[in-house]
Amino acid sequence: MKETLTNANFPQDAEGHVYHISVKRGQVANRILTVGDHHRARAIAKLLDRIDFERSSQRGFLTITGRYKGVPVSIMAIGMGNCMMDFFVRESRAVVDGDIAIIRFGSCGSLTERAPPGSVIVPKAGYCIRRNIDYFCDTPLMPAIQDIPYLVSGNFAADEGMTDILEKTMEQALAEAQPHLDAGVTIGPVVAGGLNADGCSFYSAQGRMDPQFWDDNKDVIQTALAAHPTTDALEMETSMLFHLAQCSKGTVRAAGCMQVFADRVNNGFIRPEVVAILEPIVGKAVLDSLVQVDLEAMEEAGTVWEN
Ligand code: URA
Repeated sequence: MKETLTNANFPQDAEGHVYHISVKRGQVANRILTVGDHHRARAIAKLLDRIDFERSSQRGFLTITGRYKGVPVSIMAIGMGNCMMDFFVRESRAVVDGDIAIIRFGSCGSLTERAPPGSVIVPKAGYCIRRNIDYFCDTPLMPAIQDIPYLVSGNFAADEGMTDILEKTMEQALAEAQPHLDAGVTIGPVVAGGLNADGCSFYSAQGRMDPQFWDDNKDVIQTALAAHPTTDALEMETSMLFHLAQCSKGTVRAAGCMQVFADRVNNGFIRPEVVAILEPIVGKAVLDSLVQVDLEAMEEAGTVWEN
């Protein structure tokens, strides 16, 4: 970091770039598709009519802003985990005027036979599973929870209207693509209406066994399912997005979808050739959904995108 920053509470440089995602006002659109993977972001960006702005930050964030079907959109790759989601949502909020619509396109583990690898989950809400580090601590400070290794939260709802658009657009996109695929390649179904769980880690909080560590996590998935029986997906970002949208005082609306990569019921994994087929179809369906969202569109009126 070479720039001089001001304001320790919410650091920005002299030009107004925020600290971690390294963008300023005029560089992020009100409609945002967010992914984890930079390659996925760049592949989806090929679908844009044009690209007006692109920046890769030193902290691992990529922002590509342009137009899709004439509408300003940003595609932002944020890496993984709740913490990166927090940087992304707060810092984007700080540099965008007006309401923001965000759709997350991620990958997940599936907890249901209804969503095998190659299917797409569109959750209506999400919750978090957090490793309770006080459980592992020699002198815990929170006696009330010191015997509970993993804490399961309540739910945060996705935006209903956006989720409805996303589900319908996704179903149509997958149905239209299927007849053109090679024999034996199946994508879908779209599994909607259930819940997503964000683990605070890919490993312990998602119930993966690691003999190298003391995790006490053999029951974590059953505990989560007992509290939330309609859980379909397990990943690390989307519930946090819903939570932050709920706390945004009505200015951020959010929906999400995930390709099922890991089959946590039968212990399988998606084949790379299926990812290569599915990813562009889902990416396009998310862009098609984003531009249908009815946002008060201050961005339409001639924003000049700055490099
Ligand atoms: N992402 C996750 O967080 N978990 C999975 O099992 C697959 C993708």
